[in-house]
Amino acid sequence: MPGIVLVGAQWGDEGKGKVTDLLAEHAHAVVRFQGGNNAGHTIVRDGRTWKLHLIPSGILQRDTLCLIGNGVVVDPKVLTDELDELRSRGVDTECLRISANAHLIMPYHLLLDHAGEAKLGKLQIGTTRRGIGPCYADKAARLGIRVQDLLDEKILKKKIIAALEPKRLSLRPFAKDPRLDLQTMTEEYLTYGHRLERYIADTIRLVHEQLEQGNNVVFEGAQGALLDIDHGTYPFVTSSNPVAGAACVGAGVGPKQIDEIVGVIKAYGTRVGAGPFPTELDGPLADEIRERGGEYGTTTGRPRRVGWLDLVALRYAARINSLTGLAVMKLDVLSGLERIRVCTRYRGAEGAEFEDFPYHQTVLHHVSGEYVELPGWAEDITECREESELPPAARDYLQFVADFVNVPIALIGVGPRRDQVVWTPAGARMGGVATSAGAR
Ligand code: GDP
Ligand code: IMO
Ligand code: MG
Repeated sequence: MPGIVLVGAQWGDEGKGKVTDLLAEHAHAVVRFQGGNNAGHTIVRDGRTWKLHLIPSGILQRDTLCLIGNGVVVDPKVLTDELDELRSRGVDTECLRISANAHLIMPYHLLLDHAGEAKLGKLQIGTTRRGIGPCYADKAARLGIRVQDLLDEKILKKKIIAALEPKRLSLRPFAKDPRLDLQTMTEEYLTYGHRLERYIADTIRLVHEQLEQGNNVVFEGAQGALLDIDHGTYPFVTSSNPVAGAACVGAGVGPKQIDEIVGVIKAYGTRVGAGPFPTELDGPLADEIRERGGEYGTTTGRPRRVGWLDLVALRYAARINSLTGLAVMKLDVLSGLERIRVCTRYRGAEGAEFEDFPYHQTVLHHVSGEYVELPGWAEDITECREESELPPAARDYLQFVADFVNVPIALIGVGPRRDQVVWTPAGARMGGVATSAGAR
């Protein structure tokens, strides 16, 4: 530390919430830098389960500054609801700050997300329908409305009119929808503005203050590398950059301020929504892993597609993120499988072999995984807290992964609870050893 970026290195839902919560114990600030409430980050702590969508996963750690950076898209209704829920469950939310430059998800973004998916029919992306894509599109088109605009009625109204103008045609089917009434929308958003005003801040100044004092800052990513709009399986991606480089843009720091980059993965693979997934499984084994891993979307409740660990994709993710450590979560879910497969190569439709993640969409849609089979282990590992307590086959599995992608493993998840984690020496740099000792 002090600057540590945490990103998903697969297709999202790797367990980022849990790892962020753990790292937050040693951090003065946690900053979300991209995405919006398409994310669903779960933390299981003291027998209670928390599902966070917008608020950084450091919020349960008392006195940790939690910043929603400029790169995030904020649905103020979701944010105020999330604040209310946390408060009603006794969480102190006073350490939250929201960038005045973050963009707002507006009611028309939700409608356009739904309409866009309906229009695509069979070709739909399977978005979370939270308005993420249309909001980032407006940002790029310079028609976005930002958090700071909530504080000025005249500016807010003017910007809504300007943003609605080019959408008249696509919004025609919703002409009578009361959510699109200019006055109603303005009043609703002004009300959010009143509620959120005390949290709105210059988050860039705040993050730099922490870094200048030598304090630890965790940059929390949402989604995962393969959902990245530039580097993922386009067009079956989200509309932001979940890769580590985006932490700089979405939080307002320079690359030199990043010291560690943790890629969070599951010991297998999952994906929600449509798009290529070369190692996807179906049938009873897929059902078994889905049930044991509780693989149902945190945000939408959709069953997640499951598959073997894809090391071709992971090596690619390690490169584009410059990962310095891996957090391998949900290793416990694989316990009891006689043999475990890992994909080390793709084979294309015409027999071509691919060692590297293919850039061509058609190729990617037709590849299947080629596997190395490793022995499984029968033992329950949920009570292991030291690497040496893990069965040899589990350790071999982890070593194979680390060697293949050439990134050391920093921590291993052996159950959903906060204390169900094994830190390795590589994790010590991130405060791991102290956390593990403190958690017991
Ligand atoms: P995120 O979006 O990356 O934060 O991940 P999600 O919260 O969407 O999904 C991860 C799920 O796995 C959550 O239900 C977590 O409680 C759970 N989880 C995290 N780590 C582990 C682990 O090591 N073992 C098991 N069994 N579950 C875990
Ligand atoms: P966390 O942070 C898994 C997926 C959607 C869809 C695609 C585009 O919890 O890991 P969007 O609504 O972003 O336009 O949908 O991206 N997706 C996620 N999948 N975890 C997430 O977040 C996701 N956020 C978006 O399922 O395929
Ligand atoms: Mg999730």
